[in-house]
Amino acid sequence: MIEFYNVSKVYPSGTHALNGISLSIKTGEFVFIVGASGAGKSTFLKLIMREEEPSGGRIVINGKNLSRIKRREIPYLRREMGIVFQDFRLIDKMNVYDNVAFAMRAVGATADAIKKRVPYILELVGLAHKAKRRPSELSGGEQQRVSLARALVNNPSMIIADEPTGNIDPKMSYEIMKLLNAINEQGTTVIVVTHEHELVNSFPGRVIEINQGKILRDSY
Ligand SMILES: Nc1ncnc2c1ncn2[C@@H]1O[C@H](COP(=O)(O)OP(=O)(O)OP(=O)(O)O)[C@@H](O)[C@H]1O
Ligand SMILES: [Mg+2]
Repeated sequence: MIEFYNVSKVYPSGTHALNGISLSIKTGEFVFIVGASGAGKSTFLKLIMREEEPSGGRIVINGKNLSRIKRREIPYLRREMGIVFQDFRLIDKMNVYDNVAFAMRAVGATADAIKKRVPYILELVGLAHKAKRRPSELSGGEQQRVSLARALVNNPSMIIADEPTGNIDPKMSYEIMKLLNAINEQGTTVIVVTHEHELVNSFPGRVIEINQGKILRDSY
């Protein structure tokens, strides 16, 4: 459960990215976040993952007030989250396999578990044949799918994806969204930022539209 109470975010530059957002997202929901460029969508996600802190208001995740948690507790919070960043954030010194395996090593998975799980996840996102390539040798859409594989690999209780289909052709986008939908049906909360209206209309789910830092629409 994610709860926002009158949350605002003003960046040091003076930009008001979010203005008084209140909402709650229940465990197991599938939520699309839509809105124009600069509306505040990524900021909203960054507040959930505590990459940014709010300037005002309160954020509570699974009963924990994020402004009260200690720095050393943040990794435990993030462990619950599979995050797909808008800018991928892959490690170019490592090949595709190791980028995904690294996320498992980071949470202490055994070598055996890694050997079983990584090939399965790469297959799932259609990248088994690119396991040995480095991110810089991949197309934008392929890098995006590595980033998705990394988000999925630890079986998180929520997936937070910032434009996971932004660099992918319509057919692959549809496949990725179908995958997220299937993961959601297993009980995982999924929050997806997208610009693609057609995708939003093709899948059931709640749609939250952000406009100039405020919620303009919140409907099913
Ligand atoms: N680190 C930052 N420092 C200062 N201003 C920022 C920062 N990040 C975002 N902003 C500003 O905050 C506002 C909201 O940005 P945000 O990244 O949340 O938008 P967005 O809805 O994700 O847009 P896009 O669809 O282009 O990704 C914008 O005006 C942006 O310029
Ligand atoms: Mg963004």
